Amino acid sequence: MKKSKTWSVILIVIAILIIMIQFIPVSRENPEVQGTPDFNNERTHELVRQACYDCHSHETDWPWYAYVAPVSWLVASDVHEGREHFNMSVPPFEHGDEAAGMVEKGTMPLDIYQWMHPEARFTEKEKQDLIGGLRATFGQSGEDGHEDHEH
Ligand code: HEC
Repeated sequence: MKKSKTWSVILIVIAILIIMIQFIPVSRENPEVQGTPDFNNERTHELVRQACYDCHSHETDWPWYAYVAPVSWLVASDVHEGREHFNMSVPPFEHGDEAAGMVEKGTMPLDIYQWMHPEARFTEKEKQDLIGGLRATFGQSGEDGHEDHEH
């Protein structure tokens, strides 16, 4: 009897904590899009949209679980870190060659993202299209896609 009472108290405390962490603010902003890479074709743009844009652009589609702590903290941290390393909404567009290499090795998109997003689980053909598209768009050296102010 005493034991079950202890458990009730523990469960209530856990429930209160879960409710309280929902009030910790999480930044889910989508800042202004300042530019878009000059994609070599629509196919590349589409594949990148499907598998990369949620973490590497300012056009993030925030899923419902991005509103439920503590999962929301993980989602937001992936997006913010992803944008910091490689952002397809802010020129100059760099790291394109690296991006192709990461798709080739299978490190991107992140595994956890593929579990949650079946449309980001690519077939070998789609993977090859994306790798070629990233190289064609960003150049082998990882230089920017399009910057209009050069002569
Ligand atoms: C769930 C979020 C998420 C998705 C989706 C995602 N990435 Fe990332 N990406 C990250 C994070 C976080 C980092 C930074 C940490 C790291 O390198 O693991 C990163 C880093 C990168 C980097 C920079 C590496 C560096 O060293 O600067 C490139 C390039 C990249 N990702 C390409 C891609 C490409 C291409 C796709 C789509 C095929 C993709 N990512 C999908 C989260 C993501």
